[in-house]
Amino acid sequence: MKGIILAGGIGSRLFPLTKITNKHLLPVYNEPMIYYPLRTLVDAGIKDIMIVTGGDHAGNFLRLLGNGKEFGLKGINYAYQEKEGGIAEALGLAEYFADGEKVVVVLGDNIIEKSIRAEVSAFDKQTEGARILLKEVEHPERFGVAEFEGDRIVKITEKPKMPMTKYAVTGIYMYDGKVFDIIKTLKPSGRGELEITDVNNSYIQKGTLTYSKLEGWWTDAGTFDSLLRANNLVAAMK
Ligand code: DAU
Repeated sequence: MKGIILAGGIGSRLFPLTKITNKHLLPVYNEPMIYYPLRTLVDAGIKDIMIVTGGDHAGNFLRLLGNGKEFGLKGINYAYQEKEGGIAEALGLAEYFADGEKVVVVLGDNIIEKSIRAEVSAFDKQTEGARILLKEVEHPERFGVAEFEGDRIVKITEKPKMPMTKYAVTGIYMYDGKVFDIIKTLKPSGRGELEITDVNNSYIQKGTLTYSKLEGWWTDAGTFDSLLRANNLVAAMK
């Protein structure tokens, strides 16, 4: 299985911090943000990794991470997203890298406490489809939110004003090779982006989306409050 970290976008919710650097290079306690999703993949046993980034500071990823030696990697693949076209658009740029294999995708601003090795291994055994990880949160309206019938997810809504449940869809997604065909059928949302939630809903319609509930804490780090929370959670752990 291959790993993809999505670290594009302009980080507008963190202006002016992101005026002179990429969001994923900002510090989270004692390390740059990008170290955490990278370690999420490496700790799950994934060694073949692509980072998709963009903007004016893309070269700094290469300066910071090089060939990934510090993470026990032999090399890191990079792709460049021209504009902030959405998470699904950024993922689409990794099609040639995935080359038909299953992929584990991690958003560059998602930080977790525990290993996802067991979830990745469950997806390895899944013959087709996708697998997502959910987390119960206090403010689900900031995220993609899952709705259930019994144990089955029947719908995911992106940032609903009135969330039906407290289960946020975390930024860790596992897909089979068909994800790239799905991305090609997407239309931009109201915010002008190709939405990963539309990709996940397409797998729900096919009846091939599985999920598990993430153990340990999870946070994004894309707003001032969540960046502070990420710093505090990481600091308390070290
Ligand atoms: O953190 C989990 C949430 O992430 C999910 O619950 C939502 O369903 C999902 O849409 C996403 O929501 P956000 O609005 O918080 O995503 P954001 O625009 O902050 O992008 C998250 C990461 O995705 C960002 O750190 C880098 C990557 N990204 C984003 C965009 C818009 C790209 O690589 N390219 C892009 O064009």
